[in-house]
Amino acid sequence: MIDSVLDRMTLEEQVSLLSGDDFWTTVAVGRLGVPKVKVTDGPNGARGAGSLVGGVEAACYPVGIALGATWNPELVRRMGVSLAGQAKSKGASILLAPTINIQRSGLNGRNFECYSEDPLLTAELAVAYVQGVQSQGVAATVKHFAGNESEVERQTMSSDIDERTMREIYFPPFEQTVKRGKAMAFMSAYNKINGVYASENHWLLTKVLREEWGFEGVVMSDWFGSRTTAETINAGLDLEMPGPTRDRGEKLVAAVRDGKVKAETVREAARRMLVLIERVGAFERTPDLSESFLDLEEDRALIRQLGAEGAVLLKNDGVLPLEKTSLDQIAVLGPNAASSRIMGGGSAQIATSYAVSPLQGIRAALQNPNSTRHAIGCRHNRLVELLQGDIRVEFFAGHGRKGTPLHVQTAAKGEFFWFDLPEKRLDPTNFSVRLSTTFTPDDAGEHVFGMTNAGLARLYIDDALLVDGQDGWTRGENYFGTANDEQRASISLEAGRSYCIRIDYDTPEASGEGIYITAVRFGVEKPLGIEYIDEAVEIARNSDVALVFVGRDGEWDTEGLDLPDLRLPGSQDELISRVAAVNSKTVVVLQTGGPIEMPWLDEVAAVIQFWYPGQELGNAVADVLFGDVEPGGKLPQTFPKSLKDNSAITGDPGTYPGRDGHVRYEEGVFIGYRHHDSRGIVPLFPFGHGLGYTEFTWGEPSVSSREMGHEGIAVTIDVRNVGSRAGSELVQLYVRSPKAKVERPDKELRAFAKLFISAGQTGTATLKIIPRDLSYYDEDAGAFRAEPGTYEIVIAANASDIRSVTHIELSHTYLMPPSA
Ligand code: BGC
Repeated sequence: MIDSVLDRMTLEEQVSLLSGDDFWTTVAVGRLGVPKVKVTDGPNGARGAGSLVGGVEAACYPVGIALGATWNPELVRRMGVSLAGQAKSKGASILLAPTINIQRSGLNGRNFECYSEDPLLTAELAVAYVQGVQSQGVAATVKHFAGNESEVERQTMSSDIDERTMREIYFPPFEQTVKRGKAMAFMSAYNKINGVYASENHWLLTKVLREEWGFEGVVMSDWFGSRTTAETINAGLDLEMPGPTRDRGEKLVAAVRDGKVKAETVREAARRMLVLIERVGAFERTPDLSESFLDLEEDRALIRQLGAEGAVLLKNDGVLPLEKTSLDQIAVLGPNAASSRIMGGGSAQIATSYAVSPLQGIRAALQNPNSTRHAIGCRHNRLVELLQGDIRVEFFAGHGRKGTPLHVQTAAKGEFFWFDLPEKRLDPTNFSVRLSTTFTPDDAGEHVFGMTNAGLARLYIDDALLVDGQDGWTRGENYFGTANDEQRASISLEAGRSYCIRIDYDTPEASGEGIYITAVRFGVEKPLGIEYIDEAVEIARNSDVALVFVGRDGEWDTEGLDLPDLRLPGSQDELISRVAAVNSKTVVVLQTGGPIEMPWLDEVAAVIQFWYPGQELGNAVADVLFGDVEPGGKLPQTFPKSLKDNSAITGDPGTYPGRDGHVRYEEGVFIGYRHHDSRGIVPLFPFGHGLGYTEFTWGEPSVSSREMGHEGIAVTIDVRNVGSRAGSELVQLYVRSPKAKVERPDKELRAFAKLFISAGQTGTATLKIIPRDLSYYDEDAGAFRAEPGTYEIVIAANASDIRSVTHIELSHTYLMPPSA
């Protein structure tokens, strides 16, 4: 059937399939019954075709690193199934997820979106996610292939990675989603690999992905990440996104006529598009692209379960779990207590219908909500707090807000990211807006107004210009590098008086190059002085336990921008230390998208990391803190004592964040625990670390054979729950290799099992390894290679907690091509 459709298509029609129609859909060929299909972001929900900061509501699931922390592929598979339902509710056949780049520096703005620093853990979860999504007839789009481990100059940077490192660290998750996950789609990365754009990289997209791994699906570009005609299609990039086309259409037809692209190449790419459309069932039933909000009790329950399963108890001197009945006063403190930090920033954002804050979750869990007292203590926001209220939004044709507005609407928040304009007569690259609202301060004194804008904007208070986002506008880092850095101005205001706020906005010049964004965000806040920390300290002093909710939010952990360091932003370190000084039962509840430094670690009783776990945040927090549920998470990423212990942070900007357009992955395969273990650098918390509420004893491992053969080896080990409540335990298997031609990491994770064991019961972990698990990638041989010799099988609870070591032998040299 596909062939007969292809045969009847003109070249122009085949070409039309190879670019998007608009931001989120492909082109239909009505004459031949080829429907249009919709794609949607993204990893932690299905947003639909709305703007990044709006659209139809959707359920919000945990971010990637929180899934990484579950070490639970089965639960992640169930999330994939659930997400497919969400995608369908948005009329989408293709989900733009999962993000499976590797956590390299800890500073990547998208560290939160990725699963782990380890390729095996990433691969196992990614395969489960893809299988879950695709089991429901929705295509998963594995991204970003490859080498997209930082957001610095992300549209142009070259990730310079040697082949061995690529094959051992950065490729395996992608490889497994093809070989085992049968992923239907891939997204090429924005960056270059060793000087060649991923979207133009024939070696990457054709030789490795298709010829070696056998990928049969569609490769699409990242949004505006395709910039040429012949180069991209000849490299193997099927679909240019978003549409309408920039470099294909007539240009591609001409390239075929001029002999720069073979007609057969176009036909093959068009065939892959048709196969994808067929696989998602769109030929059988033309997709209904309309969007609705799917709000299922079972999705809510799954999200809540995932939240607790990914929560990592880093330290506990016995204060946790808290006993509800024995606590008269609980201090609920910090900038993340009453605010719901449920997701990261960038294209993974969703419009949620609700989000439970920790304070709400705790109050709901307690019989007597009066026993909680809350104080914010300090702020940590990167941008000034969003202005909330009734905002009148008037749209005008052209610049300068002339005449009567073509459309008027209202909004509740001071953030606008215009994708779909509300009125057809508005030209998306040439319109202007007036935003008007009022602001009535609660307190008198200095207030800071802030604004960042993609386009030009000015903010007026009572008709006087306060923040100028027009004169001297220069490109900064917000909105994927299309807006200026936030401009701020202070003004003294009276309490209770209503001030008129007006923002005049004009769209930017369209250059035709790269991503075009029209957006503005503005806010106001009263700087919080030391008296706010004092207030939190006084509450803590008079409470039985002090819970301090700190971390970051989606303005720090966001696409488009890397982090400046691994410190908690603002005065949060000080807040924690001062609270801990007056309350010996201080529990720090962290929410960040990756590792942080903890100068106060010795001062506090417990630390637990919740990442960004989705809309059920506060309920999951209460479940775990009060012991209704076990904290099930283990670190998927090493937490170093300080940033300088990270393998990419060498002091040479060439290795991070990059120099002259190149970032050199010079540490090679020695990243994360491979770096810490091999170089003897003690981490703050090792890879795989995480405590529970019960105790386990481990037996001795037994090995199915001492000699590694083709069929592999199984290692089994009994684990007994000797505590008084049910709990989970992670068993890791690392391989330590004999000397080889190349330097190899001290040990490498090759299998893991998470056991759920009732009190007094014994569980058995069965861990399988195959010859490739003993190998390294030998560039000269173009194959994975293992030398004959004795290999150590290291059974561990985490990278620093080895429980036993046993030996196996390999008697012959083992060579395996990457295609096997
Ligand atoms: C991101 C992708 C995303 C796409 C569409 C890009 O900025 O890198 O991950 O799927 O936008 O929103």
